[in-house]
Amino acid sequence: MELKTEKTFAYCLAALLLVVGVVCYAAFPQEKPEDPIRIMLKSAGGTVLFDHKEHASEDGYGFDCTECHHLWENDGAKPEACGECHEVDGEDPMKRSDAFHMQCMGCHEDDGTAPVECSVCHAF
Ligand code: HEC
Ligand code: HEC
Ligand code: HEC
Ligand code: HEC
Repeated sequence: MELKTEKTFAYCLAALLLVVGVVCYAAFPQEKPEDPIRIMLKSAGGTVLFDHKEHASEDGYGFDCTECHHLWENDGAKPEACGECHEVDGEDPMKRSDAFHMQCMGCHEDDGTAPVECSVCHAF
């Protein structure tokens, strides 16, 4: 092959591989992880960043799922969002933001070393 045709061939090959790569990426999107890693909790009090993975994993603080997903029966289905029962403007059981606040603060107070200063959680 002449140098010029060789170059054209190389460019075509590169373009082809790029197309193949894009198609494969679109066809097999990354799977959603099983459990959330970090969650943004939003309400009138602002946004609180919750490190779910750190709280729930063995290498982290190692809490059992049911410690927080308190009515979950571990029956194969994923735990529901708290708001499924604790509605934003609900009263019974308590509304969503109060349910979060009480659970987060309650455990942190019992723990003794976990943060209870408003600004650590309400950082945004
Ligand atoms: C320290 C408390 C805590 C622990 C421990 C915990 N979670 Fe969560 N989890 C939460 C909070 C808070 C949310 C946010 C719920 C919401 O947005 O209403 C959540 C959300 C979830 C969600 C998403 C629910 C949805 O539909 O939005 C799944 C799934 C989940 N947790 C699974 C698990 C599993 C499985 C475990 C145990 C391995 C676990 N969690 C342990 C507090 C916890
Ligand atoms: C399937 C419905 C349901 C889901 C989902 C749910 N809750 Fe509850 N929650 C209740 C009910 C009902 C009560 C009142 C009776 C009780 O304590 O079991 C309650 C009570 C509470 C209480 C008060 C406990 C006490 O000691 O008085 C807190 C705090 C709370 N929930 C937080 C949460 C948080 C945070 C989540 C999500 C991680 C969550 N709940 C998910 C139904 C639910
Ligand atoms: C069952 C107990 C428990 C519950 C419920 C809990 N935490 Fe924690 N949290 C801890 C412990 C333990 C630590 C680590 C303390 C330490 O480092 O010594 C911690 C640390 C933290 C920290 C600082 C380090 C980090 O991981 O970013 C933040 C912020 C935090 N928690 C937010 C929350 C929020 C928001 C919620 C409610 C959605 C929540 N926590 C619910 C026990 C809990
Ligand atoms: C351990 C984490 C944490 C700490 C510490 C904390 N909060 Fe919260 N707070 C939350 C979460 C989670 C929510 C619900 C989601 C949100 O408002 O972003 C919340 C909600 C609120 C709300 C909204 C209530 C509503 O009805 O909408 C106010 C106001 C609030 N917090 C004030 C405070 C004040 C004041 C302090 C300090 C005394 C404080 N918080 C400490 C996590 C925390």
